[in-house]
Amino acid sequence: MPTMTIQNTLPIYRTIAVLRQTIKQWQGQGLRVALVPTMGALHAGHMALVTRALQLADRVIASVFVNPTQFGPQEDFASYPRRERQDSLLLAQTGAHGLYAPTVDEMYPAGFATAVIVGGPSEGLCGDFRPGHFSGVATVVTKLLLQSGVDAALFGEKDYQQLQVIRRLARDLDIPVTIEGVSTVRESDGLAMSSRNAYLTPAERAVAPTLHRTLAAMAGRLAAGDAIAPQVDWGKAQLLDAGFSAIDYLSVRDAVDLTALESVTGPARILAAAHLGKARLIDNVAVPAV
Ligand code: PAF
Repeated sequence: MPTMTIQNTLPIYRTIAVLRQTIKQWQGQGLRVALVPTMGALHAGHMALVTRALQLADRVIASVFVNPTQFGPQEDFASYPRRERQDSLLLAQTGAHGLYAPTVDEMYPAGFATAVIVGGPSEGLCGDFRPGHFSGVATVVTKLLLQSGVDAALFGEKDYQQLQVIRRLARDLDIPVTIEGVSTVRESDGLAMSSRNAYLTPAERAVAPTLHRTLAAMAGRLAAGDAIAPQVDWGKAQLLDAGFSAIDYLSVRDAVDLTALESVTGPARILAAAHLGKARLIDNVAVPAV
């Protein structure tokens, strides 16, 4: 029986000029184009973004760029997984039409001296623990949106603060693009999919779903009218008891501007970041309407 091989026929664009020309041509034919920005090491969570993008647009391009400006000096930029061939196969299988994979020099040529700084939703939460991170994200995402000129761009709710920062920058800078958030894709035990889950040992992996379980339990109780402060104390104790070594934050916020809440009276989100072994896990859940 002949073996079947899956061909990787996905075009890869390395330069801004080719990306722009390709997208302009499509848009000139009346086609709607969507971008799925990523840092690669793609998994089912990214594929959910591509699948949603295919519903919103006629052509979908994913970008893979491990963006140096959003990593702190002690963070994992050098060791961040890079596997372009695997990524492009997965994208081709899911139905994406192209992959934009620029070099660092293409994105940040010699003399590059500009940064996009978003206030508001960048402040607090991860903004307190990863100085410069959201400016790095905002700068590269602004560049990707302006380089591509796409009609829509999709981001996962897993990085909820990032999503709100990107919505704000697109609005504040009048970038004509629809920013679409897509629900977090979870493993069967509730752990949010993330390229960094690979850093967990088997024992840590068994503990990791406690994060989502705790946030989900808190959301249910807050929706039932429980007060925020005791729930936050309970949640922190749950995480530490389970084996998380430190909690950067566990906080209940306004779902749009991410300001801290004292009571839940409208759309709210519980966000957390906690350390487990070498991994720093983040997750968030919506508080169902009260
Ligand atoms: O979420 C990510 O993968 C990155 O932060 C993004 C949005 C692609 C910017 O580098």
